[in-house]
Amino acid sequence: MAPEAARVPRVIVGVTGGIAAYKACEVIRRLKQSGADVVVIPTLAALRFVGEATFAALSGNAVATDIWGDVQDVPHVSLGRSADAVVVVPATADFLARTVQGRADDLLGATLLTTRAPVVIATAMHTEMWEHVATQANVRVLRERGLIVLEPAVGRLTGPDSGKGRLPEPAEITEVVLQALRRRGTTADFQGRRVVVSAGGTREPIDAVRFIGNSSSGRQGYALAAMAAGRGARVTLVSANVSLPVPAGVDLVEVSTAAQLDDAMHRAASSADVIIMAAAVADFSPAQVAEVKLKKGTAPAAIELRENRDILRALVESRRPGQVIVGFAAETGDSEGSVMEHAQRKLAAKGCDLLVVNDVSGAEGFGSATNTVTILAANGSQQAFQSMSKAAVADAVLDAIGGQFIRTQ
Ligand code: CTP
Repeated sequence: MAPEAARVPRVIVGVTGGIAAYKACEVIRRLKQSGADVVVIPTLAALRFVGEATFAALSGNAVATDIWGDVQDVPHVSLGRSADAVVVVPATADFLARTVQGRADDLLGATLLTTRAPVVIATAMHTEMWEHVATQANVRVLRERGLIVLEPAVGRLTGPDSGKGRLPEPAEITEVVLQALRRRGTTADFQGRRVVVSAGGTREPIDAVRFIGNSSSGRQGYALAAMAAGRGARVTLVSANVSLPVPAGVDLVEVSTAAQLDDAMHRAASSADVIIMAAAVADFSPAQVAEVKLKKGTAPAAIELRENRDILRALVESRRPGQVIVGFAAETGDSEGSVMEHAQRKLAAKGCDLLVVNDVSGAEGFGSATNTVTILAANGSQQAFQSMSKAAVADAVLDAIGGQFIRTQ
């Protein structure tokens, strides 16, 4: 007998009336490319920005616009029931307010009331509207109800404005929806948790243009931030010198030096449930920094270095009750001990709950697409994972953190 074909997941794409509606087209295209069956429900206002024919052609399905169309199929109930995921892109401030009220006077509102599938909301609006207490209260209510409301990105807005309110990149929104589909049947297990992730590598200036740095790409930290957001967390990503697209739905704080990273992590830590130190932090920085560019022939005979504070250890020392703290360690074996012996010592010295150990004796690690890691827990347990994508490592780390919550509650 032929094996049963896997069911094609259905994604409903709601589009509301904002200028970013044209970017929904790219999300639809990407979801189709990933193999999903896509049905688009634009609001009437969305159709003033993008025509029905575009949505129909890109999705390959008739566009559902009206609660009164095809009444015999009861679309206001059937579409929501048939969905494996719903994404609203872009979501306006007005849409958020209406959704909080549970309005069902258009097809998108009715669909949101009938669906039991994960709902991802990608917001886009002007900064003042996003920051208004009414919008913030609406976002809070929707998140409490289990919807994944992505933070808008920071950047150029319509007209001369720029600031927070820009729609996250379509590729990033699509990734959150695909994650939600992968986790179908499971709950967004980090819903309501606040997660702070550091990523990248710090730079310690020598003069106006030179610095001591490292080659961390930031990919693992970014994958962790993206995955935590996809699992429902409120994520702050403290990023040191990374040139990667910002994952959808995370709050980005950009830093450069170890001292700035230290400061940003301590600020964010005060309200965090989980802290993940994936950044490669310089252990030393030059004691003197020349304000100008040092000229040829004026090079100092030696650069005096002073030791930076151990951020992870300081975070552990000032931790809130119940906070889970995770460190990373790239290790090689040497005459002093094996990779695991070094890692066990580091876990004990730092005092964190979990240490994600990366054996960098081989080719993997900084800059590579895959990682081979072992997750050590303070209670002595270890889990080893063979060469996995950084997204899969992120998932495994979050699973291990989830286990820590269960232990501490
Ligand atoms: N770390 C930190 N602050 C520092 C140095 C490291 O918070 N000043 C964190 C890293 O982000 C990582 C963990 O500590 O999560 C381990 O980093 P690593 O560089 O391996 O540790 P070190 O304490 O610097 O040990 P080593 O002597 O092996 O470099």
